[in-house]
Amino acid sequence: MRVLVVGNGGREDALCKKIQESPLCEKLYCCPGNAGTARYAENLSLGSNEEIVSFAKEYVDFVVVGPEKPLCEGIVDMLHKERIKAFGPKKKAAQLEGSKDFTKLFLEKYDLPTARYKTVFSYEEGVKALQDFSYPLVIKADGLCAGKGVGIFQEAAQAKQYLEDLFVKKIFGEEAKKVVIEEFLDGKEVSLLCVVSGNQLFPLESARDYKRIYDGDLGDNTGGVGCYSPNELFNMELKAKIAKVLKKISYGLEQEELEYSGILFIGFMIMGGEPKILEFNVRFGDPETEVILPRLESDLLCIMDKAISHSLREEDFQWSENTCMTVVMTSKGYPHAYEKYKRITGEITDPDVFVYHNNTIMEDGAAYSDGGRVLSVTTMGDSLSACREKIYAHIGEIQFEGACYRKDIGIPVK
Ligand code: AMP
Ligand code: GLY
Repeated sequence: MRVLVVGNGGREDALCKKIQESPLCEKLYCCPGNAGTARYAENLSLGSNEEIVSFAKEYVDFVVVGPEKPLCEGIVDMLHKERIKAFGPKKKAAQLEGSKDFTKLFLEKYDLPTARYKTVFSYEEGVKALQDFSYPLVIKADGLCAGKGVGIFQEAAQAKQYLEDLFVKKIFGEEAKKVVIEEFLDGKEVSLLCVVSGNQLFPLESARDYKRIYDGDLGDNTGGVGCYSPNELFNMELKAKIAKVLKKISYGLEQEELEYSGILFIGFMIMGGEPKILEFNVRFGDPETEVILPRLESDLLCIMDKAISHSLREEDFQWSENTCMTVVMTSKGYPHAYEKYKRITGEITDPDVFVYHNNTIMEDGAAYSDGGRVLSVTTMGDSLSACREKIYAHIGEIQFEGACYRKDIGIPVK
């Protein structure tokens, strides 16, 4: 098969590395890709979804879409029209990520555990609804908002200010036409990615993402600056509870005609041993993919292909018992305005430590930072502490000006 991976993050680098290992893969493209994906794939610079589809029509048999934006724009619908196999949801199902309100209605309708909420359509309605919640509370702009639409507020003045930013100043434009206000759930997060085949869900191994920028889970939310798999919270008891949740989701997907072939990423908050759903994403997580795929011993391309032909079975997933961990090196200033175009130098001397590229570009044979998250330094080992030791012993061998990273990734949940 000739395969095209769409996207340019660490997730796509991990996807490319895994896909090129498959005997089914004859040729691999990545669009736009980064300096990391160039190690296994031919990077393409195609601008729009239309250009991607027209390239795929001529040169590709199978497309894997990494990021949520093209999925929500309907790239899979366009690929299907041209009879190209695509791993990812169509526009309708992509609303499970693209609209917070759509997801909350789905969760409510199918009796799935989640935070109590109210959707509001104006500043005035929002201010009134605040009275029904205690603090802290969470306010979410309905749309994608480049992953920046969620705010957690400790007091009414801040919450009102955010409602004003959304409805009056329109900082996210039309993406915040609706706003979800919900109760704050205080617990521990577990990321669970499932391969979706029609309405069937096949859970991959669990992961723990680190969302905050500073050690000790302090500072602002990021896209994820460290991760490990498996997540020790995901024990047999929780697994059984989550299996029931997955059954209900599966039923809901069928009832609402939201079946697809792709990934459903479920963000859970575990409170007193009970799982509550925080969010859905309809794609591989980043950095979750960088720690889950190295543990997958089976052929990923074959799994994705079987998901499309609805012939996937539990036995198709073989996992390494090992732990995998990654620490993300970020640009100075991230998650706010950050510096980029810094030359990356050095090399990791341990062959067991692997560096995925998040946002890098190649110029004259050298790699440069090109985004907030830059590199994911990753290893596998028989324990979290072994992974920690290895990564932190070697991460300093790679340098770029202003590089930052958390020093506490891999310390188990208390
Ligand atoms: P979302 O965009 O819905 O995925 O939210 C982003 C992040 O905000 C989540 O991964 C959580 O860390 C946090 N978050 C979202 N909703 C809640 C909630 N109801 N209670 C506590 N934290 C939340
Ligand atoms: N790591 C969270 C995400 O991919 O959205």
